[in-house]
Amino acid sequence: MPDAYSHRLLAWFDRHGRHDLPWQHPRTPYRVWLSEIMLQQTQVATVIPYFARFLQHFPTLPELATASNDAVMAQWAGLGYYARARNLHAAAQRCVELHGGELPRDFDALHALPGIGRSTAGAILSQAWNDRFPILDGNVKRVLARFHGVEGFPGLPAVERQLWALAQAHVDSVPPGRLADYTQAQMDFGATLCTRAKPACALCPLQEDCVARREGRTDALPTPKPG
Ligand code: ADE
Ligand code: SF4
Repeated sequence: MPDAYSHRLLAWFDRHGRHDLPWQHPRTPYRVWLSEIMLQQTQVATVIPYFARFLQHFPTLPELATASNDAVMAQWAGLGYYARARNLHAAAQRCVELHGGELPRDFDALHALPGIGRSTAGAILSQAWNDRFPILDGNVKRVLARFHGVEGFPGLPAVERQLWALAQAHVDSVPPGRLADYTQAQMDFGATLCTRAKPACALCPLQEDCVARREGRTDALPTPKPG
């Protein structure tokens, strides 16, 4: 079934998305993983120089695994949220022990690694291998809540379940070979167009079907945290 949401997002991405990010060239599993961990709590512009330096010191996953903890922490210094670096190092060691020194191309095996939640596992599988998995980070939650008019704070389990189901339904209609682009499209769209404050609805490729736009409720969706 054709899905206007994913189709229009991809068309928008082809014209307006980011195609020159360092982890897109080449888009290897190790580079995608490293970028996704760095980007979990840090902006793209800040991540870029750290990403390049980190790869110079640890060009491959096995080299990261065998590095000392001090060496890894030294390359992370300044990025913050240092549990990410500890988890990254531990996950690299686990990949050497269990997966032949490579990141596993398997949702459950990836998700079991330290620092890789459900959305990050989907972001890695889709971008590294073009596998069909949805993502649901803060940006995507906001876009889906607005587009579909989903009520309720997205941190509530029942609301989050609903959003995952919508994310899955949309990713199901993405053309083969375009799953990596679709993931990046959602990131770019949430970061530049359907932003938290003042979304650019007049420029939006989804505007004609967007519930929040139609009802003039982009300020009220997603529902803020109660209390
Ligand atoms: N945040 C998380 N992953 C990202 C990506 N691939 N591009 C931009 N922002 C991101
Ligand atoms: Fe977001 Fe506005 Fe587009 Fe709706 S129309 S998806 S609120 S930018």
